[in-house]
Formats: sequence, C-alpha cells, structure tokens
Amino acid sequence: MRKQQKIWELEHQHSTSLPTLASKKPSSFVIKFLRYLRSKSLHFPLKTVDVGSGKGRNAIYLAKEGYSVYAIGYIQFTLDIIGKEAKRQDCERNIHLYKNAIDRKWPFRNNFFDLAIDCFSSIDIETRKGRIIYKTELLRTLKPGGYALVTVVSANDEIERGLMKKYPGKEKNSVIWPHNGKFQKNYDERELRDFYKEFQILKLQENKKRAFKLGKNYIATNYWMILRKPLAELL
Ligand SMILES: C[S@@+](CC[C@H](N)C(=O)[O-])C[C@H]1O[C@@H](n2cnc3c(N)ncnc32)[C@H](O)[C@@H]1O
Repeated sequence: MRKQQKIWELEHQHSTSLPTLASKKPSSFVIKFLRYLRSKSLHFPLKTVDVGSGKGRNAIYLAKEGYSVYAIGYIQFTLDIIGKEAKRQDCERNIHLYKNAIDRKWPFRNNFFDLAIDCFSSIDIETRKGRIIYKTELLRTLKPGGYALVTVVSANDEIERGLMKKYPGKEKNSVIWPHNGKFQKNYDERELRDFYKEFQILKLQENKKRAFKLGKNYIATNYWMILRKPLAELL
C-alpha cells in the first residue's frame, strides 16, 4: 500500500486531523454547486462522479437528492461505510462504489458523466504526474458541456501557510504535514487557472469559513471552482 493511502486509512479510522470529513453533513460547496446547477435546465438522473469520496458525506447527500453517484476511493472500508449508509438512508439504487485510485485510469467510458465533484481530494495526490492523470480522466469521462465542482485549499490558508514555511514539500505551495507525513498540494489562483486550462472556468472564488482542523478552530481559506468541459466542437 502506498504511504499516502496508509495515512488516509488511519485518518479515516480515527478522524484526528480533519473530523468534519466524518460528518454526515455535505460540504457547503456541494450545496452551492447544486444551487448553481438548479439554474440550468438539467434533467435527472444526473450521473455524477465523486472523486475521492471519503466516508461519503457528499455522495449520500447527492444520492438522496436524486443524483446517480459513482463514488471512487482507494480505501475499501470507507466504500463499505458508504454502501451501508446508502442502505440505511434508502438511496442504495443511486450509489455505485468503485475501488480505484483517482490518479490511475478510471473504469468509465468517455463522456459518461454529467457532473463531477472533487471536494478536497486531488490536492492529496502526491505527484504532479498523478494529478495530471486525474485531470485527464476528469476531462475524458465528463460529457461535453458537463460541469465539475473542484475545491482546494488556498496557499493563503492560515494553517497551511505556517506549515508550508516549516515543512514544505518539493513542489510549489505543497506541504508535508509533520504529525503524519501527509502530502498536500495547495494552490494560488494563477496555478489553478493554469492547471485547469483545458476546461472552461465558469467560477473561481476564494472562500473563507470557520473550520476545525488539526485541533484548531480557525478561519479556513479555500478556493471553489465550477468547471465545464468544452462542447465537442471546441475540443
Ligand atoms: C480531504 S478527503 C475528502 C473526502 C471527500 N471528498 C469529502 O469531501 O468528504 C480526501 C480524500 O481523497 C482520498 N484520496 C486521496 N488521494 C487519493 C487517490 N490517489 N486515490 C483515491 N482516493 C484518494 C482520500 O482517501 C480521502 O478520502
């Protein structure tokens, strides 16, 4: 098992650093994304990939809202948790579980998904090469005109700024968390615009909100983006 995967297995077992990930409440960014989508005339059931689905706070929420959710993760017991919760909440038919690294080829055909969410997941891919594979798979599997929500931690985030200074990773704006060795890629706006340049960037906003992370209550700074895969004639 790769080191970062082991670190995530422990985090999902004990919820030491990021307890909100174990919450049953969806991310506020997912709620904002749905608000955005409601203004478009999209028709259900929308096939949605939840990239790095964690313990499923977003996947279950979307499934209950009627989306057909394909959750990808590389830790089996978290997928089992999602399966059980889907049964408990009676939305099993809308949940499809895939054990797959998000930085390896995804087991879906081209132009399969209407929507995608990457809620703080690809920032945990340890290599740029791996993040490029994730992005290529995102682009390949979304339908032309499909939308993606991507959230990342800003390089301006108070906690991350301090950590990056003391415990920098090899890449720009990256960090190795000292207590568990977890790699994280943080972003500034220019890097995001460059990395996602194959997509139309419909929204890119810095957002500040109260959060609890690494034992501290603080104001977290993140970016949230809405991307769209260009229509076929533009590709
Ligand atoms: C910060 S958590 C976010 C989880 C979920 N998106 C949420 O918002 O609750 C990052 C997730 O990405 C997963 N992850 C990180 N790198 C991955 C990889 N290469 N392949 C599959 N999953 C990965 C971790 O296991 C973890 O569940």
